[in-house]
Amino acid sequence: MTTATNITWHAGSVSLEERQKLLKQKGFTLWFTGLSASGKSTLATALEQTLLHSGINAYRLDGDNIRFGLNKNLGFGPEDRTENIRRISEVAKLFADATVIAITAFISPYVADRQSARQLHEAAGIPFIEVYADAPLDVVEQRDPKGLYKKAKAGEIKEFTGISAPYEAPENPEIHIKTHEVSVEEGVQSILNYLVKNGLVAADKLE
Ligand SMILES: Nc1ncnc2c1ncn2[C@@H]1O[C@H](COP(=O)(O)OP(=O)(O)OP(=O)(O)O)[C@@H](O)[C@H]1O
Ligand SMILES: [Mg+2]
Repeated sequence: MTTATNITWHAGSVSLEERQKLLKQKGFTLWFTGLSASGKSTLATALEQTLLHSGINAYRLDGDNIRFGLNKNLGFGPEDRTENIRRISEVAKLFADATVIAITAFISPYVADRQSARQLHEAAGIPFIEVYADAPLDVVEQRDPKGLYKKAKAGEIKEFTGISAPYEAPENPEIHIKTHEVSVEEGVQSILNYLVKNGLVAADKLE
């Protein structure tokens, strides 16, 4: 890969604070992580719907969807997974910088990659909230909505997280949802509570 030289950042004339004030919304990234079938997309979709119905601009960046387009040239080996997450981090940061609530739903199995995503946001002054969609392996294997665990166990999918590739669980996620213990609605509510409590979403804006 060649790297660009002779490039200079060209700043706009509206600061992040001013943009947030003008558009009456704070942007940030909600970063879901968890095993396949742990509930990332289910929670992300329900949350996006709730926020949009409250007139709050939110946009979901979802693993498989992004691999149809932006990241269609990437596979599931460690290097490609890292590049996958790096690109998503940059895109989420751009959405959040534009005052949208970026909701990402990727397995993102490596601590180091999630840490890089966090640092990228923090360096730009944009909140990064890690949401751990947590369910034990035996539960997600039983759910198996896409039939992927079955295939992975039959040796038909290489490097499948939890079976033949590692998942490094977050130690200190801002939000931890045990999806085998709470309903989707309760999971969404606990995220909304966190956002209100931390001044990221105004309570009176929520439906
Ligand atoms: N409390 C819960 N929260 C979220 N999902 C739940 C819950 N209880 C059961 N489920 C079910 O678990 C499955 C989760 O699948 P989902 O596609 O959301 O997982 P995912 O984490 O996005 O997986 P992948 O990484 O493969 O995209 C769905 O079939 C959903 O209905
Ligand atoms: Mg998903």
